[in-house]
Amino acid sequence: ANNVGILAIDIYFPPTCIQQEALEAHDGASKGKYTIGLGQDCMAFCSEVEDVISMSLTVVTSLLEKYEIDPKQIGRLEVGSETVIDKSKSIKTFLMQIFEKYGNTDIEGVDSSNACYGGTAALFNCVNWVESSSWDGRYGLVVCTDSAVYAEGPARPTGGAAAIAMLIGPDAPIAFESKLRGSHMAHAYDFYKPNLASEYPVVDGKLSQTCYLMAVDTCYKHLSHKYEKLEGKPFTLNDAEYFVFHSPYNKLVQKSFARLVFNDYLKDPSSVDEIAKEKLGPFATLSGDESYQSRDLEKASQQVAKPLFDAKVQPTTLVPKQVGNMYTASLYAAFISLIHNKHSALAGKRVILFSYGSGLTATMFSLQLHDGQGPFSLSNIAKVMDIAGKLKSRHEFPPEKFVEIMKLMEHRYGAKEFVTSKDTSLLSPGTYYLTEVDSMYRRFYEKK
Ligand code: ACO
Repeated sequence: ANNVGILAIDIYFPPTCIQQEALEAHDGASKGKYTIGLGQDCMAFCSEVEDVISMSLTVVTSLLEKYEIDPKQIGRLEVGSETVIDKSKSIKTFLMQIFEKYGNTDIEGVDSSNACYGGTAALFNCVNWVESSSWDGRYGLVVCTDSAVYAEGPARPTGGAAAIAMLIGPDAPIAFESKLRGSHMAHAYDFYKPNLASEYPVVDGKLSQTCYLMAVDTCYKHLSHKYEKLEGKPFTLNDAEYFVFHSPYNKLVQKSFARLVFNDYLKDPSSVDEIAKEKLGPFATLSGDESYQSRDLEKASQQVAKPLFDAKVQPTTLVPKQVGNMYTASLYAAFISLIHNKHSALAGKRVILFSYGSGLTATMFSLQLHDGQGPFSLSNIAKVMDIAGKLKSRHEFPPEKFVEIMKLMEHRYGAKEFVTSKDTSLLSPGTYYLTEVDSMYRRFYEKK
């Protein structure tokens, strides 16, 4: 199969959200900390009628309907998520309800999880399947679904929620350059979920930032090295049109791209202009560790990177800034923002993606974009996703109400024998919602 990759995409995020400016004031944080300091505008969250299963049911149904895909044509279904609802039964098996109705139970794949990386693992599994000798000619389907919630404190504004579905097959408008990949995997306790009674992670915020930036550097080095072996010249930022990052919050994306600029400078000082050379020069002799601690380097490199950031990264930031960290869906929500903003203008361009999951696992990989045809064209994908419409029809909650819902969800997590309010007034038609968890922890959903 040629040009294996993503044929179609859809995204769902809850209509319930809170403005970061309001949360900032409510939390007593200094003005601008969440909006400028973290770079976030708004944050989506699940109310008591939604969860990672309902969101994934909604997005899969929507993708199949909007692109007119026969459910019998799906041969592999992979889910990436780090929101544990059941330690054994995968989210994928809930989604089988959609396919059983059509008599299709011949679908491989289960859930993948490692923090925010599970979606990428799921995506690679599907792409590899289509490229392999076990491929049976049908589509792969990848679902990234997460509800990112944190305990009260500095991490809380870096939450979010969404589910994304991606249809995988040959002759795709979004094709993988499978040879161009670099990974970095290591053992770290930067963010993890050892307390199975709580949905909240244990997080070492500062360590997670450093781990993320080290992974950016290492993956970029590996990817550059592979590029050089293939093309006979070093990879620089000029070799791709756009760079898309896993986006826990926008400030980290700014810092990450600035690291790439610094990497290019270290690789070949002549690859940057005179002003940049002057600004970055003083940091050229720092050791790796020192460079992560240097606030001056952080500031200088962000300053130098600013014009390139505006051109190569800014168009990828809309949904992550508006919806928040969606864990496994976060990188793909950034990529979707790019398609929303540039759609058919992306044809012929290379886009580099960076996926990070704490603990830690990270990969930087490359996509080649083409116009595509019919329903599987970049312009149709942008139209179907209707990002602007979905963002506009949201409902903003005041912080007090948000905190109240978080408290209720803390009690509901892992609980049994309850019915929800079944209040679907904010949900649009076609949205799945949770109605009940019975005495055997079995979960029941309905469609509005
Ligand atoms: N106006 C403008 N900027 C401000 C203001 C203000 N009033 N106040 C603070 N800031 C800036 C700070 O200078 C800092 O920016 P800088 O790093 O460029 O200097 C930024 O706002 C954040 O402030 P901090 O004091 O560093 O924030 P804090 O430590 O309280 O929390 C953190 C931030 C660590 C990211 C926390 O939200 C967290 O733990 N989040 C979850 C972990 C996470 O997302 N890690 C990312 C990778 S792992 C993953 O994806 C889950």
